[in-house]
Amino acid sequence: MRMLVANWKMNHLRADLEAFASTFLQGYGAHPGVRVGVAPPFPLLAPAWAAFEGRGVEILGQNGHQEAKGAFTGEVSMAQLRDLGCAGVILGHSERRQFFGETDALLARKLPAARSNGLEPLLCVGERLEEREAGRTLEVLGSQLAILGDSGPGPLTLAYEPVWAIGTGRRAEPGQVAEAHHFIRVELVRHLGPAGESVPILYGGSVTPENFDELLAIPNVAGGLVGGASLDPTKFLALVRSAQVNV
Ligand code: 13P
Repeated sequence: MRMLVANWKMNHLRADLEAFASTFLQGYGAHPGVRVGVAPPFPLLAPAWAAFEGRGVEILGQNGHQEAKGAFTGEVSMAQLRDLGCAGVILGHSERRQFFGETDALLARKLPAARSNGLEPLLCVGERLEEREAGRTLEVLGSQLAILGDSGPGPLTLAYEPVWAIGTGRRAEPGQVAEAHHFIRVELVRHLGPAGESVPILYGGSVTPENFDELLAIPNVAGGLVGGASLDPTKFLALVRSAQVNV
């Protein structure tokens, strides 16, 4: 199964969403074997659901809280995401880890919270530049994936996003992507057994329509988690088409 997810981060207003949906949906047709998702900021979840309903585009949250409900001002629960029509939630994006202090221990609680509310977790892992330069990439990925050891069975998508490739225009080289994705596959099978074979592993970090075909040809790359290029409906459509052709 191929998969392409637009992570809009903290971008777009309602008018931008309407313009995006109008252009995107003129050119988009759902294709078996390719899942397409959009992860808008929280205030745009309901309008995104309305804009894409019935059109073969899943809606995802960018984050969700580990507790079911209560006094957590400014937070959004997994049940609230589900209530707005979300099919999944991004967990552990490097910007959450870097700017909001999210740890593996916290993510180990968010993962079951997402699943028990009917959301498929899209768990992000990836090394920082200094970790790669110190030769610690696989060690870092291994420790970030360790939370899967106790996670039990359930729906799951992985995303490998090297932090130094995010928003920099410097995407990882095919050999680096191949090595990381192979390692993630081995770890998935180690933690989850045979179910780990079929978990989609997306690549994220400066994905563009120009480099996506090459990335999709790499073993264990099931698709992309896209930031900057996903804000432009024409570029995102081009990425979707690449995934549909290469299915
Ligand atoms: P860019 O595609 O802008 O590099 O962002 C990648 C990303 O962080 C997606 O989650």
